[in-house]
Amino acid sequence: MNMDLLKENVGKEAVKLIDDGQVVGLGTGSTTHFFIKHLGMRIQEEELEILGIPTSFQSLILAREFGIKVTSLDEHDVDIAVDGADEVSSQLDLIKGGGAAHTIEKLVDSNAKKFVVIVDESKLVDNLGEFPVPVEVIPDSLRPVTNALIQMGGKPEIRMGIRKDGPVITDNGNFVLDTKFDIEDPAKLEVELNSIPGVLENGIFAGITDKVIVGKMSGIEVINKEEL
Ligand code: A5P
Repeated sequence: MNMDLLKENVGKEAVKLIDDGQVVGLGTGSTTHFFIKHLGMRIQEEELEILGIPTSFQSLILAREFGIKVTSLDEHDVDIAVDGADEVSSQLDLIKGGGAAHTIEKLVDSNAKKFVVIVDESKLVDNLGEFPVPVEVIPDSLRPVTNALIQMGGKPEIRMGIRKDGPVITDNGNFVLDTKFDIEDPAKLEVELNSIPGVLENGIFAGITDKVIVGKMSGIEVINKEEL
């Protein structure tokens, strides 16, 4: 079984959680790609009235491709958000932002009445920190924020573009500092990082996950926050 099949399985499973009439946060990445695709198919087949709130240009484009009407946080509350992750800890804290979309993802996911994470089993870890924490910074703040992250014990590296010279530019026009940390307390680090002037948002999502759907070679596992 290849990874794409595991990702497609969890994407399909998450679509079953969506009810007619709901406003759905549409996450970003290769796993939510399948969720958006299968949600669009279900909407057409069952003639559902669903609105999506994209978390990136990628998910906006996919929503259009698969026929999902979109809206914004300005106009609607989010009933349920479905998103991927780069790491999921045993406490269901996350690192996100491998696709540099974590700022809008956090906005949408944290405002959802229910937040569901879909991952393949390679994303499960005991403690966060193998994956560097993506920190979105406004370009003018690059040097002072880099210094502040080093002072905090981090190892920041500016994310460079592939098939684009120079740094990655986020959907919001900013840079990303991928910063390796020894993470003892994710919630504390999340708040500390956002208190550095020039930081827009970081990729630690502590304490907001309600459910994780994990695609394993042996099948699907569902982990609910309330059962931990
Ligand atoms: C986007 O910036 C990220 O937060 C993604 O949600 C995360 O990187 C998971 O992506 P994949 O599903 O592609 O692994």
